[in-house]
Amino acid sequence: MKRLRIVLILGLVTAVSCAATSQPLPNPAQQPPPLSAPTQELPKSYIPGLGEFMGRIQTDHAKLWLAGQARNWELAGYQLSELKEVFSDVQDLVPRYQNVPVGDMIDALMTGTIADMEGAIATRDFSKFSTSFDELTAACNSCHQAANRPYIAIRRPTRSNFSNQDFLPAKK
Ligand code: HEC
Repeated sequence: MKRLRIVLILGLVTAVSCAATSQPLPNPAQQPPPLSAPTQELPKSYIPGLGEFMGRIQTDHAKLWLAGQARNWELAGYQLSELKEVFSDVQDLVPRYQNVPVGDMIDALMTGTIADMEGAIATRDFSKFSTSFDELTAACNSCHQAANRPYIAIRRPTRSNFSNQDFLPAKK
């Protein structure tokens, strides 16, 4: 929920700074309004769009594969928990997107698949991992098809795009 917290904090900061700039000048003849009276609607806080969350999900999906391929099971577990966290932020913040019930579709398509992947990572068996990874990827694409985005086709990464990150397990 780290990201959700950042969004909420940004919202608060915006609310406070808007309140500070849009207050009318005080008129000494008038009593200040009671503190509890809401004088204006709070401005909307910035919520990233679904496409932005998906960009982050794409990165987690690629890194999950690269970690599993390198048999770095700690990193694979970490990437999967990040992926889960972003899907849960999507459910909280963009439960519907352009008439697509994204929140319910995540429950239907991703929740079970992610649990299977957790099981596969726990076995530290690459063949189980790769089967689960392909199922996860198929679930991404089912949602894209159901959401009229069949042209967004996800697949296994063929190489690392992250030349500044070593995916091999840390030497102990
Ligand atoms: C619940 C439905 C749903 C699931 C599950 C889902 N997506 Fe998406 N995804 C969408 C929708 C809808 C869009 C289009 C968003 C838009 O129009 O801004 C999208 C867009 C994308 C994009 C394009 C974003 C961009 O800016 O290039 C990528 C990449 C992507 N998804 C990756 C994934 C991956 C990887 C997974 C699985 C781990 C996944 N998605 C699972 C619904 C889903």
